[in-house]
Amino acid sequence: MSKRKAPQESLNEGITDFLIELANYERNVNRAIHKYNAYRKAASVISKYPFKIKSGAEAKKLEGVGAKIAEKIDEFLATGKLRKLENIRKDDTSSSINLLTRVTGIGPAAARKFVEEGVKTLDDLKKVEHKLNHHQKIGLKYFEDFEKRIPREEMVKMQKLILSELEKLDPEYIGTICGSFRRGAESSGDIDILLTHPDYTSESPKMPKLLHAVVESLEEIGFITDTLSKGDTKFMGVCQLDSECSSFEFYHRRIDIRLIPKDQYYCGVLYFTGSDIFNKNMRARALDMGFTLNEYSIRPLGVTGMPGEPLPVDSEKDIFDYIEWKYREPKERSE
Ligand code: TTP
Ligand code: MG
Repeated sequence: MSKRKAPQESLNEGITDFLIELANYERNVNRAIHKYNAYRKAASVISKYPFKIKSGAEAKKLEGVGAKIAEKIDEFLATGKLRKLENIRKDDTSSSINLLTRVTGIGPAAARKFVEEGVKTLDDLKKVEHKLNHHQKIGLKYFEDFEKRIPREEMVKMQKLILSELEKLDPEYIGTICGSFRRGAESSGDIDILLTHPDYTSESPKMPKLLHAVVESLEEIGFITDTLSKGDTKFMGVCQLDSECSSFEFYHRRIDIRLIPKDQYYCGVLYFTGSDIFNKNMRARALDMGFTLNEYSIRPLGVTGMPGEPLPVDSEKDIFDYIEWKYREPKERSE
C-alpha cells in the first residue's frame, strides 16, 4: 500500500491540502487514527464540492465537516494560513517524525523511537543503517523513487507484462491490478496485484507455490528487483520496467502481490480496489442490510448479531446485489 496519496485537485485545493497535512500529522505524530480518518473524509467531500467555498458555515453543511474544521476553514480563508499547521511545521520533533514515516517500513512508532534517539534526517538514518531492518533499508535505498507517483501509461505497461507472464506460466491464473489504477486514476502510488487460481480455494490446502512461481518468473525477467517480505499468500517488493528500448530510466516501484482463494477473490478485488472511503461506506451499507463485509467474505448477521457462513460470490456484482446496491464501476468508487 502506498504512502503517497495523489494530490487533491479542486476549486478548494488550499483547504483540502491543509486538511490532508493535518490528517498525516494526526496519524504519524499523534497516532490518532480517528482524527486522521475525520480529516481525510472532510478533504474528500470538499474535493468533490463543485463551488469555491466562501465560509466555514458553507462547508459545515457537507457531511463529515464539523464545527472544528469549519472554524479552521474560516481562519484559512481569512488569513491564508493556519496557526496550528504553522506550529506543527515549526516543531522539530513533529516534522522529523513526519519525514521518517515517509520511508516504507518505518511506521509512526518506529519513527518516534528514532527521533527520540536523535535520528532525525535521512542522512542520520544512513549512519545507523545497522539499526534498520531489511524492509527499512530498502525503503531508504529507494526513498526518492518511492515518492514518485506512477503515471497511468507506465501502469498499463506493467499490467501488460505481468498478465502476459501469468498467461505463460498457467493460463488458468486470474490476476487483477487493483488500487487506484483500477479506479482509473491518472497516477498511482504503487502496484497492488491480486492473484487466484481455480485449484485454490479456502477449503483446499495452502498453495504457496502458486504465488512463488509468479514471483520467481517476474524476478527472472528482471522485473522484480527486491523483496521486502515473502509469505505463503503475500509478496511485498520492488519492481522496475526495463529501460532497454528507451532513453528514459524507469523508477523503482513498490509492488504487492496477494494470492487469494478463488471463493474469496471478488471480496478481495472489491476491497483492494477501494477507495478506502468507498470501502467504509460499503461496509456500513452492508451492516445496515444485515451483513458483515470484509476483504475475505460477506456473511449474513443472525438475530444475535453473530455472522453466519460466507455467502457464495462469483463477481463483484454479487456483493452489490446482496446488499441491494446498484453496481458501481471501479471508476465510480472514489467514495
Ligand atoms: P493503497 O495502495 O494504499 O491505495 P490506492 O491504490 O487507492 O492509492 P495509491 O494510488 O496511492 O496507491 O491501497 C489499496 C486499496 O486497499 C485501497 O484503494 C483500498 C484498500 N485499503 C483500505 O480499504 N483501507 C486501508 O486502510 C488501506 C491502506 C487500503
Ligand atoms: Mg495503490
